[in-house]
Amino acid sequence: MSTATQLEHVAEAARPTTPGTDRGTPATGVAVPGQAAPVRGEAHAVGRVDEVPPGEGRAFVAGGVQVAVFRLRDGSLHATQAACPHAGGPLADGQTDVDVLVCPLHLFAYRWRDGASTSGAAPIRVYPVHESGGEIVVEV
Ligand code: FES
Repeated sequence: MSTATQLEHVAEAARPTTPGTDRGTPATGVAVPGQAAPVRGEAHAVGRVDEVPPGEGRAFVAGGVQVAVFRLRDGSLHATQAACPHAGGPLADGQTDVDVLVCPLHLFAYRWRDGASTSGAAPIRVYPVHESGGEIVVEV
């Protein structure tokens, strides 16, 4: 093996394998429409979990970004952009199930997992969200 080849192997072995630590690879988190790999953002506490009744959504602002946060009946939290890309409908007022969010205006549906539309609309952004001490924390 040549010295150059050995260095390539050493450099390859030294590359970080943790998502988000590799210079060219974004961390997982926010699904950006048109990109396969979501990007993790800055965490913001936006409100109390009990402000969102089970099965419903509410609009919040996270770091200057309008988001819609949902608490499903199974207790899971989901966060998306607040306005529907189709015509600006209020996604926080949408109907939900375990897999999708349906916009209340024209009924386009979006997957929680990645924001892709299951009904032919442009995708929406979905953001990482979790509960911490009763607070909703959204990463934008
Ligand atoms: S504004 Fe959401 S489907 Fe039309």
